[in-house]
Amino acid sequence: MTTAARLRAESARLLKEKGGSSQGLVPTMGALHEGHAELARTAVAQNDVVVVSIFVNPLQFGEAADLERYPRTLEADLALLDAVGVDLVFAPEVEEVYPGGQPTVRISAGPMAAKWEGASRPGHFDGALTVVAKLLHYGMPGAAGAELPTYRAYFGQKDAQQLALVQRMVADLNFPVEIVPVPIVRSADGLALSSRNRFLSAGEREAALVLSRALRLIEERANAHQPLDLESAQALVESQPLVELDYFDVVDPRTLEPLAENCRDTPFRGEGLAIIAAKVGPVRLIDNVPLDS
Ligand code: PAF
Repeated sequence: MTTAARLRAESARLLKEKGGSSQGLVPTMGALHEGHAELARTAVAQNDVVVVSIFVNPLQFGEAADLERYPRTLEADLALLDAVGVDLVFAPEVEEVYPGGQPTVRISAGPMAAKWEGASRPGHFDGALTVVAKLLHYGMPGAAGAELPTYRAYFGQKDAQQLALVQRMVADLNFPVEIVPVPIVRSADGLALSSRNRFLSAGEREAALVLSRALRLIEERANAHQPLDLESAQALVESQPLVELDYFDVVDPRTLEPLAENCRDTPFRGEGLAIIAAKVGPVRLIDNVPLDS
């Protein structure tokens, strides 16, 4: 369905018909892969009614060319979501979401959006949070009986900065929704699944494996309570000529501030998130691994 009014009516009807008490939303931009399937499966397992949105949000793209190049695979997406058992797919046109053109009032993602991904994609997180706020409103369940239904929304841990910012927005602005993080899905060789992987040549794809290898090294050292020795893991990434490293660090998963103290010469203790971003050929890839030691 393509209109918010229809989504609202259909989700209310379904919730009532099922005698349900919970609704889940999975926001996506389409070009779905097994990572999205896992988000949808988790939502289906936890909710009576599940909505997946498919909307390529112009507000979060810097260059027009990037927006145009973004893969659109609606038919295959619908087949995947049907197989997973999603109830409703909301695939609005740009005019439905931004009827008067680009919105003049937007979410400001704040200082946490200025670093890491935000440093190389100015305005990206303002645009992403603005549409997430709208999608969270579209996907909100109507009242069913005396109790308000539980409302959950599902975000992949692969986009760790987006996830942290969405959690922050929901807490700071009191959105009545529980944000559920879903772990990264990887291919058998370790590459984190991404809609962008399809743009890698065979050689670039092979080279890109160094990202997950470097993260695994850090994870192993954290689990063994060793110093993380980021430098040697970084050298491994930099030894791969097809990979242009942007950042590689260990941060607090909630604030995304570097945990530099913990990373060098002393054994790692506590909670952290190792994050990496690199350009491999024409494609910017991100990956991360949670550390809990
Ligand atoms: O992660 C994405 O696919 C997008 O940033 C999202 C959350 C659907 C907003 O457009």
